[in-house]
Amino acid sequence: MPNVNVIRRMQFNSAHRLHNPEKSDEWNAATFGKCNSPNWHGHNYVLEIGVVGEPSAETGYVIDLGELKKIANDRVIDKCDHKNLNLEVDFMRGVIPSTENFAIAIWNELADALPSGTLSLIRLYETENNWVEYRGE
Ligand code: NI
Repeated sequence: MPNVNVIRRMQFNSAHRLHNPEKSDEWNAATFGKCNSPNWHGHNYVLEIGVVGEPSAETGYVIDLGELKKIANDRVIDKCDHKNLNLEVDFMRGVIPSTENFAIAIWNELADALPSGTLSLIRLYETENNWVEYRGE
């Protein structure tokens, strides 16, 4: 049977600061540069969520995109949009909010929550030119 990847794109805005509290202020400034700025900075994130599976014989869907949108809103977007990733987002607590770590955390929020299909991809754009992909491996 054919496996099809279905992709949902979503957008949100968050503030963060890259900072490792186990290291010195000098190390953090040298390592993270402007991203270590103490009073935060923001990004317009673009999130693409991939779900793979066989289209249902009844609906033709791998996953109902309305359901995927609702799950992603409840578990990720509403928690992060216009929020501070370091201070306010439960699933980012204790995590340095790099794009890499953020993508892994988003995966973990969604992987077990899908009603059909299998999570196949988290693609997270921090800027137009910088993005990461995570496939749960
Ligand atoms: Ni940043």
